Amino acid sequence: MTNKFRYFIANWKMYGNLNSLKSINNVIKFTKSNSKKRFKLIYCPPYTLLSAFCAKLQKSSISVGAQNCHEKNEHGAFTGSVNAQMIKNLGVKYVILGHSENRINGDTDDIINKKIKSALNQKLTVIFCIGETLYQRNNKGTNKIIKKQIIKGLKGLKKNSKIIIAYEPVWSIGTGIIPKNYELEKNIKFINSIILKNTKLKKFRILYGGSVNPKNIENLNTISMIDGYLIGGASQDPKKLIDIIKKSYN
Ligand code: PGA
Repeated sequence: MTNKFRYFIANWKMYGNLNSLKSINNVIKFTKSNSKKRFKLIYCPPYTLLSAFCAKLQKSSISVGAQNCHEKNEHGAFTGSVNAQMIKNLGVKYVILGHSENRINGDTDDIINKKIKSALNQKLTVIFCIGETLYQRNNKGTNKIIKKQIIKGLKGLKKNSKIIIAYEPVWSIGTGIIPKNYELEKNIKFINSIILKNTKLKKFRILYGGSVNPKNIENLNTISMIDGYLIGGASQDPKKLIDIIKKSYN
């Protein structure tokens, strides 16, 4: 396996409490002793743990990301919401936007576009999620939906906007089922070409997300167009997370 640079983004979703912080001690140790390996690990815990993660990881090479933010730049009467400024203020560097679990809850492409602009405005790096549902895939609608998500979501962004793409087929998230290699390669190539044709972005990485685990990581790593992974379930188990990274560099 080459020493290719890869992102490993740990999406903890709505899991974790202050006690879970202890669980990442071994991961911190592991990243320290593997500092020559070319990877970037980013923990994305729920809002409630962002401060504690930032404090704990301050002296490590591991960064912290949020899982969402409000679309408004300014503060205001939006009960239960958190904006990009508030996240940035904690020392957070990344934010996941457009995750299918938030698209289902009402995040439209236009709202996601506003959130992305607001996050970039605060100099956060955006992890922008796109992907088709099983219905769309089975009805040959993958290209159409991905194209729409990209064009609308990334509308009006400047050339150097800090965007990481996470291609997450919705039917792979939490199901244990991942696309066949040829399908992943085809879709990632398509994503790459649509971004280059329809946006000003030139420099971006494309990650894969959906049921990444220590059993399928070696196969996924054979796909050279994948620049890393957005990992949900497996990322909460430090052993599995370390195993995924280890197996990417053996
Ligand atoms: P999963 O989640 O790894 O549990 O499938 C991935 C994600 O939703 O980002």
